[in-house]
Order: sequence, then C-alpha cells, then structure tokens
Amino acid sequence: MIANRNQKTYTASDVVSYYAQLRQLQPAEATILRRFKPEWPQIKLLDIGVGGGRTTQHFAPLVSEYVGIDYSADMIAACKRRFPSTSQMHFQVCDVRDLSQFADNTFDFILFSFNGIDYISHEERLKALQEISRVGKSGGYFFFSTHSLQGMIREFKLQNKFSFNPLKTYVNLVMLAILRLANRSLTLAQLQQLDHAIIKDESHNFRLKTYYINPADQLKQLAENFYDIQIYSWSTGLEIKNQLELDANVEMWLYYLCTIK
Ligand SMILES: C[S@@+](CC[C@H](N)C(=O)[O-])C[C@H]1O[C@@H](n2cnc3c(N)ncnc32)[C@H](O)[C@@H]1O
Repeated sequence: MIANRNQKTYTASDVVSYYAQLRQLQPAEATILRRFKPEWPQIKLLDIGVGGGRTTQHFAPLVSEYVGIDYSADMIAACKRRFPSTSQMHFQVCDVRDLSQFADNTFDFILFSFNGIDYISHEERLKALQEISRVGKSGGYFFFSTHSLQGMIREFKLQNKFSFNPLKTYVNLVMLAILRLANRSLTLAQLQQLDHAIIKDESHNFRLKTYYINPADQLKQLAENFYDIQIYSWSTGLEIKNQLELDANVEMWLYYLCTIK
C-alpha cells in the first residue's frame, strides 16, 4: 500500500530532521498569509501533515486556535520539541484518512501544505477530501498544494534536458535515466493519457510514491466538496488567472485555495 510505504519514509530520522529544520514559507503560502491578515484572529486552523512545523511558526501566533496533525509520530514529536503546547496551540498524531476525532464544522481554515496530500492512494485521497470538507465549516477554506502531472511530463521529456552547459546536460540526463528507471512501468505516452499517476520522484532519494494530477483534473476532483477554487504558482505566489496560463504552467506543484461547501 502506498500510504504505508510513504509513512515509513516520513518516520525515518533523516527525513524528520530535514522537515524539522525548514523555516521559510513558500511564496504561495506567504500570499495567503497576507490575504487573510484581517481574518486570522477569528480563525480556528487545522494544519494537516504539519511535518516538522515549518508552517506553525508563521500561522499559529496569528490564529485563535491552532491544531497541527501528522500521521508520523516522529514528526509530531519534533513539533512538540520545537513548540511547547499552549491552550491555543497543540499537536497530535492523526491520519488524514481518519479525521473521526474531529466533529463536523470544526475548523475555519484547513491547511495541507507542501504536497502532503500526495502520499495516499487515489481512493484514500477522495475520502480525505470529503473528510476535510466535513470537519471544515461551510464557507471556510481549504488551502493545499499537489504535484502537477503537467510538470512531471516535462521532466520525462528528453528534449528538455539539453543545456548550453555540458555539465548541466550530463546531470540532467543522469537524473532522467534514474527517474525513468525508478518508474519503469510508465512511459511518456502513458503519462500524457492519464488524469493522475503515482510516481517515484527524486524527493528523499526516490523513497516516496507520489500522486501527480493534471490541474484540470484536480479542479474536477475538488468540485464535489469545494467551490470558488483559485490556483497559485508555488514559486511566485501569484494567482494563475486563466486557462492559457494554467495550460502553460509546468511547475512541479501548485497551490489551490478552495471554499468549503
Ligand atoms: C512533504 S511533507 C510537508 C511537511 C510540512 N507540512 C512542511 O511543509 O514542511 C508531508 C507531510 O505530510 C505528512 N502526511 C503524509 N500523509 C499523511 C496522512 N495520510 N495523514 C497525515 N499526515 C500525512 C507526512 O508525514 C509529512 O510530514
């Protein structure tokens, strides 16, 4: 099962230490932090897949209540070492596939940052989206990022690997060979036909199985539980405002701001 394999990686000590030392917000997260500035003091926030607490230091001091959850007990232990719990902020081990400990309509804002939603199967993802909308208040927000299949298709193409710098070309070709080898059952032609795919990418040395989805299919997938969906470039933090811009985007992941139905 993909989630069990990934959970092992997310409890490995080198991976936990890596997330525990991250500090900076990604540009799209910084955009959202600024956008909701007047509202944060009234917001009860659930930070799913909180990892080592990178987002905690930025969001927790602003909101009325902050709950950080992760299915990796080691990540939660790292958060607790980094941020002593208070009455307003706490952390707990919890899997997004089972949010039954939270009542309906509990949170105003739900964050699942840095692609944490990409480490479960397709069926589990659909269930998680339903659960997220259940524990979120109607009219509240879900903000998350997910890997883009458009971005991965670009990585799979040989013609994108050549540069004027021979050393760079060499490194690119070696990385492409490793990527193709790690995903022997997938061809470029197949990827171009799929809505989503599970891919072993280079993060944490190919130890994760990661869900990639085309942005257009992500929008369809969200439509059952969310509306007014806005897409943000992870790297510039700017909103992607039209279809042309979205079709041309080959970033490896994108952020989605959704209103909960
Ligand atoms: C890429 S890391 C991001 C960590 C942190 N949000 C950050 O931005 O630094 C993904 C996190 O999601 C967590 N995660 C993955 N699947 C999960 C699940 N089913 N339930 C809860 N957490 C999960 C992992 O343990 C990991 O800490």
